[in-house]
Amino acid sequence: MRKTIIAGNWKMNKNKSEAVAFANSLKEKISNIENVEIVVCPSFVSLVTLCDILKETQAEVGAQNLHWEASGAFTGEVSAEMIEAIGCRYVIIGHSERRQFFNETDDKVNKKIKRALTSCCLIPIVCVGETLDQREQGKTNAIIRTQVTKALESISSMQMQRLIIAYEPVWAIGTGVTASPEQAEEVHRLIRDLIEELYDEQTAEGISILYGGSVKPSNIADLLKQSNIDGGLIGGASLELDSFIEMIKIAEHLSN
Ligand code: 13P
Repeated sequence: MRKTIIAGNWKMNKNKSEAVAFANSLKEKISNIENVEIVVCPSFVSLVTLCDILKETQAEVGAQNLHWEASGAFTGEVSAEMIEAIGCRYVIIGHSERRQFFNETDDKVNKKIKRALTSCCLIPIVCVGETLDQREQGKTNAIIRTQVTKALESISSMQMQRLIIAYEPVWAIGTGVTASPEQAEEVHRLIRDLIEELYDEQTAEGISILYGGSVKPSNIADLLKQSNIDGGLIGGASLELDSFIEMIKIAEHLSN
C-alpha cells in the first residue's frame, strides 16, 4: 500500500523567521497524523533550521534543488551530500519553473536524480508536466513519456523504490486552474503504465505519483480519491498553515 504524501513546495517564499514560525506551529498540529507523510520544502536559507525544528516529528524536510556533481567549483550550487548532512530527506528535481527559467533539461534532471540516488537516503521528487500549448496540440502523452523516460535513464528498479514522481501540468501551476481529477488520473495512469513498461509491475505499483497544480483544501479530496494519485505537491496553498493542515487532515481521513 502506497503511503499518501502531502508535500509543500514553498518556492521562493518565506524568510527564515516566517519559516521558523510556520514549522513550530506545524509541529504542534500534526502529532496525531499517522498515515500521511508530510514534507515541507523551504528555501535553502531555512533548510538547516527547519530540519532541526521538525526532527523527530511527523514532518520531513525537502530541498528544492541540488547540483549533480558531488562537490567542486560550482558557485551558488548545493550538493546532495550537503543537503543530506543536515537531515534533509527529500529533494525536488526538475520542477517546471527550473526547466522554464533555469534551463533545466531532461539530461540535467537525469543527472540530478542519479546524484540524489547515490546518496544514502535522499528521496527525489521528480517533476514532469506539459504546457497548455502542448496539451492543446494533443501532445500531453508524448511529452510525459519523453520526460519520464529521459529522467529515469540508467536508473535501476532497486533505485526506483526510493523515487517519487510528481505530475504537475504547467498550465495548472499557480493559475488557480486545477486539472480535473479525471484529467490528472489519466496522466497518472499513463505514468504508472510507463513505469511498468520500463521496469515491471511491482515497481509500477510501488511508486508514489503526486499531483501538483493549484491543489487546495476544496479540491484535494477529489484528487486523492483517484486510484493513481498518491498525494499532492502543493505550492500556494501550502504557504498558509491552516490550509496546509486542512489538506493533511483530509489526506489522513481518506487513507484511514
Ligand atoms: P501551486 O499549488 O501554487 O499551483 O504550485 C504547484 C507547484 O508548482 C508545486 O510544486
